[in-house]
Amino acid sequence: MKPFEWKQDTKTLIFVDQRALPSLEYVTCSKLEDVLGAIKNMVVRGAPAIAIAGVYGLVLHAFHIKQKSYGSVDFDKFLIELKKGAAQLIKARPTAVNLSLVLDKVLQGISKLSTTEEIVPFILREAELAIDDDRKMNLQIAANGLELIKDNFTILIHCHTGGLAVASGEYGTAQGIVSLASEKRRNVKVFATETRPFLQGRITAFELAQEDVNITIIPDNAAGILIYRKLIDCVIVGADRVLSTGHVFNKIGTYALAVLTKHHKIPFYVALPITTFDFVHKLEDIIVEQRDPKEVRFCRDQQIVANDVPVLNPAFDITPPELITALICDKGVIYPPFEEALAALRESP
Ligand code: MRU
Repeated sequence: MKPFEWKQDTKTLIFVDQRALPSLEYVTCSKLEDVLGAIKNMVVRGAPAIAIAGVYGLVLHAFHIKQKSYGSVDFDKFLIELKKGAAQLIKARPTAVNLSLVLDKVLQGISKLSTTEEIVPFILREAELAIDDDRKMNLQIAANGLELIKDNFTILIHCHTGGLAVASGEYGTAQGIVSLASEKRRNVKVFATETRPFLQGRITAFELAQEDVNITIIPDNAAGILIYRKLIDCVIVGADRVLSTGHVFNKIGTYALAVLTKHHKIPFYVALPITTFDFVHKLEDIIVEQRDPKEVRFCRDQQIVANDVPVLNPAFDITPPELITALICDKGVIYPPFEEALAALRESP
């Protein structure tokens, strides 16, 4: 199942509402604001899916700019407006580096065009190319990860990293490894954390049950006792962003799982496409930004008030490289020391 579909005839982007699963409901977007809402409200989620949804958001914004100016907008003004739209999209999911990378690439491409007429077809083509890349990268992640999965393995996965979290709707990242292992008739058993507070584990269960994978959901806080009782052979998670040092930004609870695996000496793997690496930012920049209460750019903390008691409900955490056994990427399986290995990866074609 695909997370969204672009309808050229109606010029709309139709999302599967991931909050409603297993019930099948749809959300139709006809303007940028609708896409911003879909990202912020978790209608669409998963860094790779969000990235391409963002590109279609830019298409909708381009239609709006044209309409507003009765089709006669000057090229430079068009580009400025598109840049504003892209900035809003990036702000809707600041942890997902794939989103800012793909939007920057599209904007750079647009700046090399000559007429405003070329803009919409160009963005649509970029979206299709990015979906195709996403499909290929995820298949390669699954193939690379398969080497680490032995027959009769029990794997713990966190959050949701399956087809609905990526643009193609096919193999996911961390979950794609499990799907391929099961397809290759490897006897695997999966425990999926329910993943508070948005319960993405329900989407993991929905997809893996359809693939006939032996899956059981556990409360997040049951992971410790399962690992203590030696019921888990490895943990595999996805990522929103991985720095050149190997620090991993991912769903809240990832760090706690990594600490548990280190204590109990079982492997902790992070699966990601090359587009999830952030070779630009440093951890210090990000931590400083997190401490700034005015603009929490890399962290979507929410304040929920229950019975007048404030609840701190962070959405993402950071896992340091020393807790990670390997990064499973489309370019290969990367082992520590990550800083050197990632520098080499960055240089590779
Ligand atoms: O908040 P979510 O549900 O979008 O979080 C998803 C994750 O944390 C994933 O690990 C990450 O985005 C990669 S999805 C292939």
